[in-house]
Amino acid sequence: MSDSLVKIEQKDHFYILTINRPHALNALNQEVFNEFEEFFTKYSGDYSIKGVVITGEGQKSFVAGADIKEFSSLDAQGGSLLSKRGQDILFMIERFHAPVVAAVNGFALGGGCELAMACHIRVAGTHAKFGQPEVNLGLVPGYGGSQRLIQLIGKGKATEMLLTADMIHADEALRLGLVTHVVESGMEVDKALEILGKIATKGPLAIHQCIQLINAYFDKTTDGFVKEYTDFGLTIGSEDSKEGATAFVEKRKPIFQAK
Ligand code: CAA
Repeated sequence: MSDSLVKIEQKDHFYILTINRPHALNALNQEVFNEFEEFFTKYSGDYSIKGVVITGEGQKSFVAGADIKEFSSLDAQGGSLLSKRGQDILFMIERFHAPVVAAVNGFALGGGCELAMACHIRVAGTHAKFGQPEVNLGLVPGYGGSQRLIQLIGKGKATEMLLTADMIHADEALRLGLVTHVVESGMEVDKALEILGKIATKGPLAIHQCIQLINAYFDKTTDGFVKEYTDFGLTIGSEDSKEGATAFVEKRKPIFQAK
């Protein structure tokens, strides 16, 4: 993937994916989605991967949205297909077995805010700005923003952001719970890796099940409580859970095998 629009770097058990279109403020075009699809398909269920960081190239922008230049030739059907494709890719991220952290290093607008919201955890640099400016273009969000923004910050503020297209700064995003950490600009990826490092010491199957349970809360077809007692049984029957309990009793760190 030498000419790729998504740079892939491996660091220990983690991958850092950097969207590399700085001339377009890292806007998401179809090729970026293709490369995301390739990555998340290839590593789905591979428990040797302990986490992924997604960020944008340069200091200015995480992702400034869907690539507006791809919109001009779209009719209603083409628009729905583009939107569904983007949603499907973001579901792949949201359902990935290992945690995905957005390291938001600048603008996270439209599809960029939507990409960050599909990640499990969001870390922002002090200069980051978030917004869903689609109505400026006479559009609604297309990659899940109308749903996940409400999930994350509640109906009141989400409605205001969606209808006014106003951007919010990192500190307000922190106050609203849209991000969980604000760090000095340039330190976003380091902070994301620090969080992933902590999660990597836990039972990988349990982490996967936790991600599924969190997603189940928002899935109107699943009873999250039923899933929780089912998954509790699954995890307690695992070798990792036996190792976790034994290590606790023996006062040592557990060695998990994802079994
Ligand atoms: N798509 C394609 N190109 C984009 C882009 C986008 N979303 N955002 C920025 N660019 C390009 C600009 O066209 C410009 O390219 P040229 O130099 O070739 O003209 C380059 O990036 C730099 O941008 P600006 O000159 O505009 O930079 P700025 O500092 O003056 O402004 C900005 C920065 C406020 C982020 C501004 O670029 C902007 O408003 N961008 C669009 C943001 C937006 O509307 N995003 C939502 C897209 S729709 C969407 O995402 C729908 C969905 O949910 C699926």
